[in-house]
Order: sequence, then structure tokens, then C-alpha cells
Amino acid sequence: MQRLAGKDIFPQVQAKLAEEVARLSESGISVTLAVILVGEDPASQIYVASKERTCGELGIGSLVTRLPAETTQAELLELVQQYNEDPQINGILVQVPLPAPLDEDEVLQAISPDKDVDCFHPYNLGLLTAGLARFVPCTPFGVLQFLKHHQIPTSGKKIVILGRSNIFGRPMSILLSQKPWDATVTLCHSRTQNLAEECRQADILIAAIGKPMLVTKDFIKPGAVVIDVGINRIADPNHPKGSRVVGDVDYEGIASVASAATPVPGGVGISTIAMLMYNVVNAARFANGLEAFEL
Ligand code: GUN
Repeated sequence: MQRLAGKDIFPQVQAKLAEEVARLSESGISVTLAVILVGEDPASQIYVASKERTCGELGIGSLVTRLPAETTQAELLELVQQYNEDPQINGILVQVPLPAPLDEDEVLQAISPDKDVDCFHPYNLGLLTAGLARFVPCTPFGVLQFLKHHQIPTSGKKIVILGRSNIFGRPMSILLSQKPWDATVTLCHSRTQNLAEECRQADILIAAIGKPMLVTKDFIKPGAVVIDVGINRIADPNHPKGSRVVGDVDYEGIASVASAATPVPGGVGISTIAMLMYNVVNAARFANGLEAFEL
């Protein structure tokens, strides 16, 4: 089974983006991302630190605002509005999940669609659904880069996606059904019956259901390509930290059946931030009347 590693693709993507950020800077265009993190969720803190670091590496300005979990809806909406109106800021990212009782949908809909680099706003998701996307959500976009880089055929192929989230599964299913991917897509979720049987039909199986190592050998059609989007922390007394990160797929278990798969960690993980940076660069280009940057 071929190992589809993120490091074979995304460092080059980031290098191209760093060059483009430098070119834009020479023509007087600065690129800046504003990130809002509310509360103390440990995973969110790690993700945000990683986004901040990558911005620095690419020459993208980052403005990270860390707010206490007690922040009110009104305070959060006011900050988003302030960033919407600030011409120095090209992209706005509110890290999710937001702590209760904050209303995530209302906050995400308050972000200007022109600065919505996550592509979570219903307006941008509507454009994507109509085949008119300006931004593409970062994790589905990262998966498309794997398929493109490895020239994995999708046209007329059967692709099964596990998980129907607005962040990943739903936009992924829409994109892959469109040109130029032209796949026949099945979107499975927690109520799907005969899940293993559905998955066994797939030429390409994409798992994003948040269940550690749910996908085992009996879910895989011989020769299938498997993309694992899951990031699950499980207890492991043999590990120095007492826990470790695994995907939604039993990577070792499927090795004798699948033709290729992304490992966790080391697979899809770094693609999300790279594609976020791509969206931020494009937001700056669009704001200055330029077309999307060709990767
Ligand atoms: N939480 C987990 N993934 C993401 C992401 O891609 N964007 C935001 N804003 N929050 C997240």
C-alpha cells in the first residue's frame, strides 16, 4: 500500500505561497489574517498556534485575539464587525467550536463573505454549491490536492465519504460531484445502514466521522484509495504521554487491501493550514481586483 504523506505536497505549496506573498508585498499589497480564539479548548489552542506560526513562515501578517470563555455574543460580534471594516485585514477566522452558550452560526454569518477564508459562510457555501466557488473550505481543498498531486482518477469513479459536517463532508461531496472531478458520490453518516457494505463500493473512501479506527479491512474494496481526515486522541498506556492521535481508519489493518492511504499523523493534517494560507492570499488578491492565484 502506497503511503500518501502530506509532506510530499504541502511544503511546496507553502513555498509557492511565500513567493506570492513577497510579490504582492513588492506591489504594495500586504496579506493579513485575523484569528479569534474564544476559551481554553486545548486542541483549538494548538491549531491556532500552528496557524500563527505558518503565517509567520510565509510572510503573512497574523493578528490573533484570545478571548475568555465568558466573552458575550455581543462582544464577539462587535470584534468581527471591527475586522470586517478594517482594510488592513484580508481574512477573518473564528476558531470553532465556540464555547457554550455562544451562537456559532450567528458569528460565522457575521464574517464578511469577502474575508471568509474558512468558507464557512452560507453565501460562500452557496457559491460553491452552484459551481461558482471563490473560496473552498480548507480541509476538502487539501484532500483535492492529494487527489491532484497523485493523479488519482475520480471521473466516473465511486467515492464514498463518511461524515456530513458543514466543515468537511458536505462540501467535499459537492466538490467531488462537480467538474473537473466528476465522481459519483455517496455521503454516509451516523444513520447510514450497512456502513461497511456502502464503503466496500468505493474506489476512493474518505473518512471524516470522528470515530477512532472505525474503518477496518472489511470496509475496503481491493485496490481502493483511502483518505483519512480523522484526528482522534485515544488513551494509550504504552505511550509516554498516556495517549496518542489516530485517524478514523485502521491504517495498518487496511494495508493488505487498499492500494494507497493517508496516514494519521502525517497525512491530511498539514494540508488544512496550507490551504487556509492559500485562501488568505486569494482574499488579499480579490480585495485588490486580482484573480485567484494559480497553484
Ligand atoms: N476547528 C477545526 N478546524 C477548523 C477550521 O478549519 N477552521 C476553524 N475556524 N475552526 C476549526
